Amino acid sequence: MRTETPVTVYRKDYQPYPFEIPEVALAFDLHPETTTVTSRLTVRRRADHGGAPLKLDGSELELVSVCVDGRQLSPGEYTLDEHALTLHALPDTALVEIVSRCRPAANSTLMGLYVSGGNFFTQCEAEGFRRITWFADRPDVMSRYRVTLRADTAYPVLLSNGNLVEQRTLPDGRAQAVWEDPYPKPCYLFALVAGRFTHRETRLNTVSGREVLLQVYSDPGSESKTEWALESLVRSVRWDETRFGLELDLDRFMVVAVRDFNMGAMENKGLNIFNAAYVLADADTATDANYEAIEAVIGHEYFHNWTGNRVTCRDWFQLSLKEGLTVFRDQEFSADMMARGLDAQAAASARAVKRIDDVVTLRAAQFPEDAGPMAHPIRPESYQEIGNFYTATVYEKGAEVIRMQHTLLGEAGFRAGMDEYFRRHDGQAVTCDDFVAAMESVYQRQHPGRDLQVFRRWYRQAGTPRVTVALDYDAAARRCTVTLAQRCAPVGVEKAAPVAGGKQPFHIPFAMGLLDRSGKPISLKLDGKETTTALLELTQERQQWIFEDVPSAPIPSLLRGFSAPVIVEYPWNDDELALLSAHDTDPFARWEAGQELATREILRLTALRQAGGQLKASAAFIQAWQALLEDPVLDAAYRARALSLPSEKTLAERMSAIDPPSLAAARDFLRAEIGRQLAGAWRQAIANCQTPGPYTPAPEPAGKRALKNMALGHLMAGGDTEAAAWAVAQYENAGNMTDRLGALTALVNHGDEDVATRALSHFYEQWQHDPLVIDKWFALQATARSTTVDTVRGLMAHPAFTLRNPNRARALIFQFCLNNARGLHDAAGAGYAFWEEQVLALDALNPEIAARLARAMDNWSRFVPALRAPMQAALERVRAHAGLSRNVSEIVSKALELAA
Ligand code: TRP
Ligand code: ZN
Repeated sequence: MRTETPVTVYRKDYQPYPFEIPEVALAFDLHPETTTVTSRLTVRRRADHGGAPLKLDGSELELVSVCVDGRQLSPGEYTLDEHALTLHALPDTALVEIVSRCRPAANSTLMGLYVSGGNFFTQCEAEGFRRITWFADRPDVMSRYRVTLRADTAYPVLLSNGNLVEQRTLPDGRAQAVWEDPYPKPCYLFALVAGRFTHRETRLNTVSGREVLLQVYSDPGSESKTEWALESLVRSVRWDETRFGLELDLDRFMVVAVRDFNMGAMENKGLNIFNAAYVLADADTATDANYEAIEAVIGHEYFHNWTGNRVTCRDWFQLSLKEGLTVFRDQEFSADMMARGLDAQAAASARAVKRIDDVVTLRAAQFPEDAGPMAHPIRPESYQEIGNFYTATVYEKGAEVIRMQHTLLGEAGFRAGMDEYFRRHDGQAVTCDDFVAAMESVYQRQHPGRDLQVFRRWYRQAGTPRVTVALDYDAAARRCTVTLAQRCAPVGVEKAAPVAGGKQPFHIPFAMGLLDRSGKPISLKLDGKETTTALLELTQERQQWIFEDVPSAPIPSLLRGFSAPVIVEYPWNDDELALLSAHDTDPFARWEAGQELATREILRLTALRQAGGQLKASAAFIQAWQALLEDPVLDAAYRARALSLPSEKTLAERMSAIDPPSLAAARDFLRAEIGRQLAGAWRQAIANCQTPGPYTPAPEPAGKRALKNMALGHLMAGGDTEAAAWAVAQYENAGNMTDRLGALTALVNHGDEDVATRALSHFYEQWQHDPLVIDKWFALQATARSTTVDTVRGLMAHPAFTLRNPNRARALIFQFCLNNARGLHDAAGAGYAFWEEQVLALDALNPEIAARLARAMDNWSRFVPALRAPMQAALERVRAHAGLSRNVSEIVSKALELAA
């Protein structure tokens, strides 16, 4: 093996493909060892591309024959190398027929055609189609597909995109199915599935009255676990009709669950393929969080049918065009589902809970990315391996950039912009700029003379802007002057390749309110309107706003609803934060104030611990937490978020030199103190949050379970032995997985070691035949407080462990390396050697997955010196490894070269 020489692809180098390929006919003779693919392409040279050869991408394929217009080519008429098949001197229109072979059973990358659990699956996004046949593997080449599948009787279900047009038994006894997709699509949306499945289905009439068939396929025996997924699909179809006026455009829409999958799910036209973790659920095996995630991912993939498939990306630099927009849509779908049927106040709280969860994810995953060596704009300027750019930045920050447009235009304006986007671009492969232009056409109607030129910088500049706020109150004039200033230094790749013309200010929609000293909202006048939340549009480095008739010195409530993905800097004192945490009428900003208080408290305790001091929680902080815990107005779901301490990852972003063991110890100390000092209130919460009766994943009981299990954990952390007995009883008697796992988690992290060990082995015995439950068993141990590298090595020796199944690898190895900083950074670099070993072992099997694990060391340069050097050394050793994939190579070289 040799290391592939890194080739950087640049956005500025985009060239249209010299040919059109309007029709593709594929025939598959499916065998696990060797599958033969016959591909017939109608090829038409585009005007102005005279002379260009037809260069088709291909990877790990065996060529059998290539014909043009029925004549087999001799080797002199084409060139074949490791990455391409090039046909020279092609006429302006031609019928190209290529016969090739690939090896599905030997394919451990899970890209292209592969075998999982004895069945065939495909994954083509981003560049997997080239592992199936030679083709123009780029999203701007769109074709109509006719697909013939042939397989022996061991594979009774044969599926592909679109409509089934023929199904029969061949003279040789094999089955044949022919599928036709009426919509032109790029090859990354191609899919086939073949094998043995059970399915659940329903029919419904779309808004225009067409009857459509919705189906969910899964392994035989799992039929009882697909009800929620199918119901979620029905809700998704309805929601896109009502909120966006978008209708399902096919007669048949299928979802298939697979156990071996690199990501969450894939939006192949009419044939979505899903990681089984985002399909299968029942009360006994799935948690509330699993149910919520299934609904979100089913929605996400379904919504891609319009935002991704009907309108697709011109090139992979535009990935956020479909992903940012579709994440925004799935976030709104989840929020609408959570708020369904509630009164205005409860609905606002439910939506805030969803918003908080999304911001927590953004801060834990995307903010560190945006401050580290892999920082990139949501529309990257370059990449070595596109698989490395399915990032929190492209997805989650991309969704924030869409959300800001929604905030600027309002719901009706945004909807008008979406309508305009589809009117202009249905059936096309377009750019992020095309999307903004459609939105801008509405914005300009709303605000004559203004445009989104400054806003477009969100697409080409990376980094998390910092917004500094200054308040000046003039008591005599009853006037409050608000000054906002922004800055955003070059990060990641911007340090090596500076943004042309230097970085410029962003267009930041900044929602804020003012409270008086008793916590009451102050009415604000802005642009002639009166409101308690003003939306300031910051477009320059520094701007001022003046609010008149402010009766007393106010306390600012800033970035309400998290109106922009920025970091706010304002010198609140602790009393002001406590007041906001108790009284702010904006539920997001209220949560935020508590988080800021907790952050200050934990960072203070961390510093104290580093200095060898005696830890003691501040009384004011405990009081603020007590106020939240006992506030009768707050529902359980919101309260659980309000009382959660910020994650170690979020806290680390606030440290100049990250010291995970001290940070974890300080955070644990505070959590235990909250448990001990507020024991009475936690006990009351447990009493108030019982959910008797049959299980439902609805937001209200789920919120109660979240708070109850949180209470259990806190009480046990605080040393409450009675709570430990409750946890054992809850583990034994739970009527659902949320409560069972909640109790087990508390026992493993805070309980008696023997009791925990017994419960863990009982859990394994009971669920050993259910892989998704065993993933939870591994993940719980991987992230446990006492887990070390040795614990993880022991678990890897367990017969149920395998590196080949990404879910299993994620449950144990990723959970340890990415979510157990205390364990990873403990003891003389043993964790780093473990990381290095696993990255290399995975790289030999599945480079996409290996590269994700490689990112665990991204922020090495920001750790305390004692950890920094061994982390850097481990990165150097991986980089020097012969035969490294392009995926891992890009990650480790950037980590070393572009470190903060
Ligand atoms: N388009 C998919 C989604 O976000 C992402 C995806 C699924 C993917 N599988 C993949 C990307 C494999 C790269 C490789 O919905
Ligand atoms: Zn997506």
